[in-house]
Amino acid sequence: MSNLILIGFMGSGKTTVGIQLSYRLRMTMVDTDKIIEREQNCTIREIFERDGEETFRKLETGCLKSLLKNSKDQIISVGGGLPMREENHSLLKKLGTVIYLRVTKETVYERLKNDSTRPLLQGEEPMSKIEELLKVRAPIYEKASQLHVDVDGKTFDEIVDEIEILIGYDEREWASV
Ligand code: S3P
Repeated sequence: MSNLILIGFMGSGKTTVGIQLSYRLRMTMVDTDKIIEREQNCTIREIFERDGEETFRKLETGCLKSLLKNSKDQIISVGGGLPMREENHSLLKKLGTVIYLRVTKETVYERLKNDSTRPLLQGEEPMSKIEELLKVRAPIYEKASQLHVDVDGKTFDEIVDEIEILIGYDEREWASV
């Protein structure tokens, strides 16, 4: 089995779903934000403040390229803005099956209203920023993915169940490998 890649807006649950999916499928999980923070030895917020968003976006593409060389049979959760770069689409598809976690602006707002780690949502009016970004990004997430799950109102367990069905995971088949 090749990699499973989770894409979607900030707050769609990519990290939590990725961790639970990795337990269920007994696959390891990596997260592009975490890889970049480790390699740069600072937080995403610091990278945005110090070097600007464009530098961060280049680091994301570099991270995808090195995953392409090294990653196999992993769950890969990627930052919410990563699919916005056209050149990343072909890298994502080469890496494996891309699954889009689709979320509404209301859920994002509820989940992230007290968050201080996402530089793009630190302004005066986070709800209008979420709305504005989501409007632009939603069609791009659709285009960059092969599968999608609507996450609103669902538990993480239910989302993982749905993903298992979507990818045709079969425990017996897996156990006999
Ligand atoms: C971003 C999403 C964040 C992180 C950075 C930028 C975005 O990741 O990469 O703050 O542009 O949507 P999460 O989607 O994991 O929050």
